[in-house]
Amino acid sequence: MLITGASTGIGLLGAQLVKALGASTVLGTTRSPHKRNLLADAGIDTVIVTGEDDLADAVFAATGGEGVELVLDHVAGQMFADCLPLTRRDGRVVNIGRLDGAAATIDIDALSYRNLTVYGVSFGACRPIELGNNLAGLEPEIVPAVVEGRIRPVIDRTMGWDEHVAATARLHSGDTHGKIVLTIDA
Ligand SMILES: NC(=O)c1ccc[n+]([C@@H]2O[C@H](COP(=O)([O-])OP(=O)(O)OC[C@H]3O[C@@H](n4cnc5c(N)ncnc54)[C@H](OP(=O)(O)O)[C@@H]3O)[C@@H](O)[C@H]2O)c1
Repeated sequence: MLITGASTGIGLLGAQLVKALGASTVLGTTRSPHKRNLLADAGIDTVIVTGEDDLADAVFAATGGEGVELVLDHVAGQMFADCLPLTRRDGRVVNIGRLDGAAATIDIDALSYRNLTVYGVSFGACRPIELGNNLAGLEPEIVPAVVEGRIRPVIDRTMGWDEHVAATARLHSGDTHGKIVLTIDA
């Protein structure tokens, strides 16, 4: 499977999650060469640095020319469109983030000839029934993996509540390695 924007806080969690669910080969993208180790530590088998590596070449080399079964897309924009032809027949593409913009021009042939399924998700717009189903779905494999420490949040740093402006600036800088935790004094 392929995770675009795998260096994001949510992408790093996603990598650990799919590994816990048994994904055999996970590819992940970043724009930053110095984040290769960050992705490898999260369980990404093949790190693709967009701008240095060719995305299609890397995907087909790692999948014996077949393409991936599943895409978790945190980038959207042109990257979303580019992922469709890299997906094998009956594949699934889940759009999670829109870091590179919410608009994409896609090739409908890439969807239909592969019999692809595209999902959109937003926890902010999640209805209670979906949230319930999602939480129930975590129970058999994900909760034990969290308890056993196989899935851990990747924390860039912990900052005080009074540092929230600096924390926001750090998030915008693109230098974070995971999430920032803000602590609130009692
Ligand atoms: N659907 C949902 O329910 C849901 C839930 C949570 C978050 N999200 C979305 O998921 C995305 C990631 O959230 P996050 O908080 O985990 O992000 P984050 O940790 O703040 O990710 C920042 C990283 O994203 C990469 N990035 C930034 N702009 C980019 C661009 N234009 N193209 C490609 N990569 C870019 C950069 O990494 P590199 O330097 O490695 O490229 C940057 O370091 C966001 O769009 C967020 O809104 C959706």
